[in-house]
Amino acid sequence: MSDGDTARASAFERGGARKAAEGLGHLSGFGNEHSSEAVPGALPEGRNSPQRAPLGLYAEQLSGTAFTEPRAHNRRSWLYRIRPSAAHPAFTRTGNGAIRSAPFNQTVPDPNRLRWSPLPAPAEGTDFLAGLWTLGGNGDVAQRAGMAMHLYHANASMDRVFSDADGELLIVPEEGGLVLRTEFGLLHVEPGHIALVPRGVRFRVELLDDVARGYVCENYGAAFRLPDLGPIGANGLANARDFRAPVAAYEDVEGPVEVVNKFCGNLWSATYDHSPMDVVAWHGNHVPYAYDLRRFNVMGTISYDHPDPSVFTVLTAPSDTPGLAGVDFVVFAPRWLVGEDTFRPPYFHRNVMSEYMGLIEGAYDAKAEGFVPGGGSLHNMMSAHGPDRETFEKASAAELRPQKIDDGLAFMFETRWPVSLTPQAARAEHLQQRYDEVWQGLERHFRTM
Ligand SMILES: [Fe+2]
Repeated sequence: MSDGDTARASAFERGGARKAAEGLGHLSGFGNEHSSEAVPGALPEGRNSPQRAPLGLYAEQLSGTAFTEPRAHNRRSWLYRIRPSAAHPAFTRTGNGAIRSAPFNQTVPDPNRLRWSPLPAPAEGTDFLAGLWTLGGNGDVAQRAGMAMHLYHANASMDRVFSDADGELLIVPEEGGLVLRTEFGLLHVEPGHIALVPRGVRFRVELLDDVARGYVCENYGAAFRLPDLGPIGANGLANARDFRAPVAAYEDVEGPVEVVNKFCGNLWSATYDHSPMDVVAWHGNHVPYAYDLRRFNVMGTISYDHPDPSVFTVLTAPSDTPGLAGVDFVVFAPRWLVGEDTFRPPYFHRNVMSEYMGLIEGAYDAKAEGFVPGGGSLHNMMSAHGPDRETFEKASAAELRPQKIDDGLAFMFETRWPVSLTPQAARAEHLQQRYDEVWQGLERHFRTM
């Protein structure tokens, strides 16, 4: 077989994989008490931990919150598995690759506005875990407070299994479809979707295309939830029913499987004599999920000005202070702009929160150039930013007809504490050196009538 034949064969197999991924079943809703069994009768009835679980399975609880947290916030699931998770050898330290964790104290916090081009291409055989590259973050991983921002660039599916004890992982693909094979079942996501893997849940990332690239928010704090809607009412923004949880699917594999565990900032590895992805049935609300950002029900003005970008919040991870998020995930989705006598792009501002923005596709309406899919910008606490000169001039003179913004999908990780960079992000070759210049040449228009 020639190389060309091999490439075609692999494309064919991947085509088949995508078709299979598109046909995956799912459960609908956010935060519900889901239940699923891959084999009929695997879920016990009427109790969580019977003397003998059905089909010879082991019962095991996975807690995402303390046992005693209020019912509305409590997250836990019961897993019915071929072997209990406890059946594993000792973990030993393995290399952290380009993954770093809070506290991020190796660089001096930088008040400057910063922007990066996309990550360079990875070496052959880089899986999702090896392709993770930490930009920075805040808080303290051992205090379960704060967050980390990572990017990933991979070209191989994972054979090993990963779990993150340090936080939940919000994955934002920008290029390449993914299948997340989790303990709870399979999730399919494409660019424009997000996936969330809860703290401690084991998973593999399999690629549906030659390359996969995107962003990850590792949330050390309280889990992401849907924001309250207040006067918006009972519906809108991300609707709960559009979230997809997997249906139970297990693998029954005897033989060596590497399992990597991220714990207090370091990666630890163990080789199991079986696959730990052996959950035949489960129920609970501490579950992975996926969501198509194009289903976001965008709210905005129908008179003048425009609301603060908090109205674009998809998910919020609360802090101990009401209304103050540890981190918000915000999307700038296609929408109509109709504000009268209004400067329609995002206004100039300084924000007590720190903003990391990424671009999934197209262009963003406040930046004419330089902010590209796969890249990102960081506007740290109180840094002054807003539209670039070209955008300002254009929007100040534009005729204010109703206008559809439909050529881009941008997002923001917005966090309560300043973001400190990793040394690799502060010194990266793909850190743009002349970002400040987008605000140069903003002309003086002041006059006293
Ligand atoms: Fe901003």
